[in-house]
Amino acid sequence: MTQPPDPIGLFLEWAALAARADIPEPDAAALATVDDACKPSVRMVLVRSADERGFVFYTNFESRKGAELLRGGAKTGGGGKGGSRGEGAPAALCFWWPPLQKQVRVEGRAVAVSDAEADAYWATRARESQVGAWASRQSAELTRGYPELTAKYRELDATLPRKVPRPEHWSGFRIVPERIEFWEARPHRLHHRVLYERQGRGWTTRILSP
Ligand SMILES: Cc1cc2nc3c(=O)[nH]c(=O)nc-3n(C[C@H](O)[C@H](O)[C@H](O)COP(=O)(O)O)c2cc1C
Repeated sequence: MTQPPDPIGLFLEWAALAARADIPEPDAAALATVDDACKPSVRMVLVRSADERGFVFYTNFESRKGAELLRGGAKTGGGGKGGSRGEGAPAALCFWWPPLQKQVRVEGRAVAVSDAEADAYWATRARESQVGAWASRQSAELTRGYPELTAKYRELDATLPRKVPRPEHWSGFRIVPERIEFWEARPHRLHHRVLYERQGRGWTTRILSP
């Protein structure tokens, strides 16, 4: 593994390799959040963009993960709709690309993307997915079971305009990285790990034992 000074460039290089490999959902990553009691939870998300500002995924802000990420004042840092002050809740992502035998771990803080950025991504989604986003109160119990959801979908499909507006509660989070670790399998389990840690405007690197 080469060690460029910029971990984002290296991530994009690996993500491009994953996109060319025969991997379903190469942009899928496990997202970890914590609640008020520091109890962790983890689930998969699709990381739709990555650049020097961070790693972006989209979700329902009223979901469990949404609530846990908004606790840190995520809406102040991202130029979003206003909200509590804070530096952003802690969050972590983990990518695993089996055919490449490569893993990337990201740790940082969550900020909301701007309304303009969320609108632009929303516009790329199929109408079915947009209606689904309106229909699902993500993470809430369906007290009348699954048919409650399908009935809601049908009702909204019939009543929402052809060009579906983005719900207020549906947007994106950007995980602004403080640490990024690249792991690559090597023979004899002597795997190669490089840890980048943010220092001022740059990054320090360290090699870790596997
Ligand atoms: C491969 C994969 C990708 C997923 N991508 C997303 C996503 O981008 N956004 C999202 O809200 N949920 C996504 N989900 C569903 C989440 O894993 C999770 O079930 C949902 O967001 C509710 O999580 P929560 O209750 O912890 O908020 C994905 C699931 C899988 C299996």
